Amino acid sequence: MSWNNHSLDGCHLEELANRYGTPLYVYSVKTMENKIQELKQAFTEAYPNTRIAYAAKAFLNKAMVGFVMDQGIYLDVVSGGELTLALEAGMDPERIEFNGNNKLAWEIELAVKEGVGRIIVDGYGEVELIQHYANIYKQTVPLLFRITPGISADSHDYIVTGKKDSKFGFPLDLQRLLPEIQATQESPYTPFYGFHFHLGSQLFEPELYTEALDLLFTFYDELLEHIQVDFKELNIGGGFGIPYRPGEPSLPYSFFFEPLMTKVTEYFEKKGLPRPAVITEPGRSIVGEAGLSLYRVGTVKTLEGIRTYVSVDGGMTDNIRPALYQAKYHGELVGKDREGKGEVVTICGKCCESGDILIQDLEIPPVDSRDLLVVYNTGAYGYSMASNYNLLPKPGIVWVKDGKDYLVTKPQTIQQIYENDLDYPFKKDE
Ligand SMILES: Cc1ncc(COP(=O)(O)O)c(C=O)c1O
Repeated sequence: MSWNNHSLDGCHLEELANRYGTPLYVYSVKTMENKIQELKQAFTEAYPNTRIAYAAKAFLNKAMVGFVMDQGIYLDVVSGGELTLALEAGMDPERIEFNGNNKLAWEIELAVKEGVGRIIVDGYGEVELIQHYANIYKQTVPLLFRITPGISADSHDYIVTGKKDSKFGFPLDLQRLLPEIQATQESPYTPFYGFHFHLGSQLFEPELYTEALDLLFTFYDELLEHIQVDFKELNIGGGFGIPYRPGEPSLPYSFFFEPLMTKVTEYFEKKGLPRPAVITEPGRSIVGEAGLSLYRVGTVKTLEGIRTYVSVDGGMTDNIRPALYQAKYHGELVGKDREGKGEVVTICGKCCESGDILIQDLEIPPVDSRDLLVVYNTGAYGYSMASNYNLLPKPGIVWVKDGKDYLVTKPQTIQQIYENDLDYPFKKDE
């Protein structure tokens, strides 16, 4: 997305804000299409026997499922909720891969019954539960095992997942993993297909992936001394970093895939074995730069010698990332020229939390109440992590393409937030 450009794919942001209200999420379909095209060129078209599974957690609604289907890619889900939405929106279950560190029994039952393409096993005893339902529904579900190779990626602690101290996956400990892998052989419905890792999110170093591969391949060598299992598939997760502010690096997918695929090919060639299918699960890098958030400015509070707080009509409820892991964003006032002297202000939300800060220090032209603020590159883990704190409704989502706009998720109403509430049970008779 280009900064300082107050229209998106031919749609003016001020007009969108006036038509649909704020806060509002706006996505450029073209940007998502370009990302997928680049990914296909660097991965699925460059190497045979590879596939892309978009990580639903980054952003999912019905339209997004339609987009994924249109692009002919797969979908990675991590909950019964994501799975249900995907199925309802018409996704072929065989093109769904099911991840998650604590899959509930009903989620596993649904996944097995519907015949999802893969389940990524992530906990001790999970194979048994999958087999229970696979035997009942006589449904074959190939299994991959998620491993935590012990790589410490340089990203925020909360989005690093491949280190040893992690709630995700299995450490590469033969003693503990071998019985789990052996257990797959107890049912014809749960064939072992291979391994999965996801090292973290917002990563910029391909060496992390190649180091993880080295560790995994050493483990596989060791495993083969105890059990004969074919390595049919390797899922290398997602994690590819994106720029959030002007001047931050924007790396092409090939920067990651070239060294990674070389490493995979070399290992299997050396072993005289066929290379497994390779799958990637990006989320952020597909939708992050495609989305932006629009807010109306409300109160402006200048504390002499301290800072100026510019409050907007959303905040941590529609974008928790700055509060959760100090994520940094860039914003601008729509329609206001950046020429002339700006002021450094703090953009804050309207929630009752001091930590409800969207952008800590942002230089903007003199700001007035009712100005429209755009925050760029909020397309990933913004809406999908939204909450109803302070009973703030979740924003609507508009997609734009070729000068046309499409409302794809309506703004939530206040009544929808509390529609499951029941009356006070101790009401006195009148
Ligand atoms: C298992 C798994 N796959 C894929 C992803 C997507 O990562 P990203 O959005 O950084 O590409 C995540 C993110 O947490 C994940 O946990």
